[in-house]
Amino acid sequence: IDVKALRGSTKGVITLDPGYKNTGSCESAITFLDGEKGILRYRGYSIEELAEKADFLEVAYLLIFGELPNQEQLDKFHADIKSHSVVDDDVKKIIDAFPKSAHPMGVLSSLTSALTAFNPSSVNVDSEEEMYNAIVRILGKFPVLVAWTMRKKQGLPLDYGDDNLGYVENVLKMMFKSPNKDYEQNDILVNALDKLLILHADHEQNCSTSTVRITGSSHAGLFVSLSAGISALWGPLHGGANQAVLEMLEAIKEDGGDTKKYMAKAKDKSDPFRLMGFGHRVYKNFDPRAKIIKVAADEVLGDLGVEDPILDIAKGLEKEALEDKYFVDRKLYPNVDFYSGIIYRAMGIPVEMFTVMFALGRLPGWIAQWKEMRMRKEPIGRPRQLYTGETLRAFTPIEKR
Ligand code: ACO
Repeated sequence: IDVKALRGSTKGVITLDPGYKNTGSCESAITFLDGEKGILRYRGYSIEELAEKADFLEVAYLLIFGELPNQEQLDKFHADIKSHSVVDDDVKKIIDAFPKSAHPMGVLSSLTSALTAFNPSSVNVDSEEEMYNAIVRILGKFPVLVAWTMRKKQGLPLDYGDDNLGYVENVLKMMFKSPNKDYEQNDILVNALDKLLILHADHEQNCSTSTVRITGSSHAGLFVSLSAGISALWGPLHGGANQAVLEMLEAIKEDGGDTKKYMAKAKDKSDPFRLMGFGHRVYKNFDPRAKIIKVAADEVLGDLGVEDPILDIAKGLEKEALEDKYFVDRKLYPNVDFYSGIIYRAMGIPVEMFTVMFALGRLPGWIAQWKEMRMRKEPIGRPRQLYTGETLRAFTPIEKR
């Protein structure tokens, strides 16, 4: 395809494709996915191999810069991130101003946008060096916002973790350290979170990533583009599904564990209820991330010695759906969000924080996509429409309406 020629043209036929089901918005060399075969690769590396062998920071580097880092590159990247791991003290005042009942995704989106005010140099970034500085800045500060969003809800002091720890280790310490007892690192939690973050790190042109790219295409700054992505992720049809899945599984448990009743509800077209965590726009055979997370859920709960009846309910629903004509005909299978919440819950993360954890994982992907869009000098994103409203009408004065 001659993309340059396409770029110049606004005279072609306008295609109408609600939900962009068949419309490519860009060229991208970051993430490959084949929905029919259930393949997901970051920069050519399979998600299965990355989840098993890499850590989250290596994957972040891979997504953003295109290659796996050697030790020296990784150390420098981490050191640069750590040099930006303090947020302006006034951010605490903003957090204080939110009601305790505020949903963490709203708080996180606001704080990410607000960081622009404290880091104005992150807005006009044209050179690779300016981009790099903005990128390590947000990678350093975002985990603080994530942890403080949770700590605010729990009435805990807004403290930092320990920069001598690894990136993911530090996130956990910032989230879970308590004024009442010494913090002890739990390697099961570190490994589980590493894996979950890697599995969420990018997923090509999904709703939130497209939002980041289109916001950034107006040359709005990186942080506000990310903030827009966080808002898009919040919805229950996208990242918010992980919270919705757990609430659904809880409701089924409370209702006596009758999965058949909820299967029937999901199939009833007069009922808006959907089986949360099922279905995907692109995966039509299985979601490879869900396969890995299902196995991880068993392992993590086993390692932590947690017995959670909702894991059995989840497995029961999956089994029934796999044998159900409605679900089979529509190719509806568990997606990444179906089992992730069960692991987050076993880790002691509150349900309302689940989508925030997704945002933490997706951060490198959003950054990589934003950087690619800027470096390729993509034009401003501006879809067309087919107008269906009134044609020309004469103005009616207010007293005659
Ligand atoms: N439960 C019951 N029926 C469903 C479900 C579901 N979870 N998902 C889709 N369907 C049905 C639809 O009613 C529709 O049926 P019809 O053809 O008889 O009208 C058919 O399957 C196709 O569904 P669409 O909504 O057209 O598919 P689309 O690709 O637009 O939506 C989506 C994909 C949003 C993921 C959808 O499957 C859904 O709402 N799932 C539940 C929410 C969820 O888990 N979201 C997380 C997705 S993964 C992520 O974003 C990280």
